[in-house]
Amino acid sequence: MVQSDTRRVVVMTGATSGFGTYTLQHIAAQPNTRVIIGARGTGRTAPPSVEIIPLDLASLTSVREFADTVKRQLGDTHIDILLLNAGIHGSDAGQRSAEGYGLTFAVNHLAHYLLARLLLPHIADNGRLVITSSNMHNPPIKRIAPKKLDLQEWAHPTENGSGTGIRSYTASKLCNLMTALSFARLEDVKARQINVVAFNPGLTGGVSGRDASALRKAFFWLVARTLFPLIGLFRPEFVMNTPGHSGKQLAGVALGTIAPPLGRIYVSLVKGEPKFPDPSELARNREAQDRLWRESAVMVGLPIDLGP
Ligand SMILES: NC(=O)c1ccc[n+]([C@@H]2O[C@H](COP(=O)([O-])OP(=O)(O)OC[C@H]3O[C@@H](n4cnc5c(N)ncnc54)[C@H](OP(=O)(O)O)[C@@H]3O)[C@@H](O)[C@H]2O)c1
Repeated sequence: MVQSDTRRVVVMTGATSGFGTYTLQHIAAQPNTRVIIGARGTGRTAPPSVEIIPLDLASLTSVREFADTVKRQLGDTHIDILLLNAGIHGSDAGQRSAEGYGLTFAVNHLAHYLLARLLLPHIADNGRLVITSSNMHNPPIKRIAPKKLDLQEWAHPTENGSGTGIRSYTASKLCNLMTALSFARLEDVKARQINVVAFNPGLTGGVSGRDASALRKAFFWLVARTLFPLIGLFRPEFVMNTPGHSGKQLAGVALGTIAPPLGRIYVSLVKGEPKFPDPSELARNREAQDRLWRESAVMVGLPIDLGP
């Protein structure tokens, strides 16, 4: 029989590259803390104390297997912090998940929606669910960010439609924020006082995930060092953070040392400082939140309502 664990338990995605590696280092260095990460393939390293379980977010089957393994390994022990940070920075119409959904929508949104729903019953009372979003979900900040839900296009992208390229990214980050808002509204979450937080790391200039091509990485590197410092002079939300800084701030959010005021769930780094702005108008629309929840449930094969 698996013994109950008295350590703080953290389960994380997106810990193997980008600023998430700094978040992981920071969390893994905390005393009395057990960290489990989901990671795909081989060739990524983690601090020696960290447990690694295979997870490919581009496959809902893999997400289910990951959740089952986490539950089996934890036994009676609950998760104190579920930290969903993985993401890709956009995809073309032809790039699809194992189940045939648009890759960015599937990896960034559907997989994390499914994972959060599967693991919610195993989150401890007073625990925390953190989902990394982006201020790029918000049209006043990023002009091409969605002004309406276009779920069919995001799930089944067409050439040059809103489900491709950087548009697919802004749409998926909107979904992350709306999902966080929906989880925060659940009766079960409120009754068990689970804290739900959506996090915007600001621009870090990092695109180091293994999906990014060398050309894309070089382009980002160049833009990060030339264009964004100039834009940042006039637009504070475009001021670059280092991956180390954003990673440490995310660790603070996960560990609860950085917390939004009561009634707010969005932590956004602006010039490196945590601010607590309103999510976009569309993100706050409850009808749209409910629609996203319902249609996502159908896409991942879960009932719309939470079970007893
Ligand atoms: N960087 C920014 O400026 C910025 C700004 C706003 C929001 N964000 C958000 O912050 C998060 C991290 O961004 P980042 O720039 O640090 O990204 P990154 O360097 O590209 O790292 C992304 C992480 O997600 C993992 N991942 C990607 N696809 C996966 C899959 N199919 N299965 C399992 N894991 C997968 C990667 O794993 P591998 O190591 O295997 O590639 C990596 O650990 C993302 O959610 C992103 O949308 C970033």
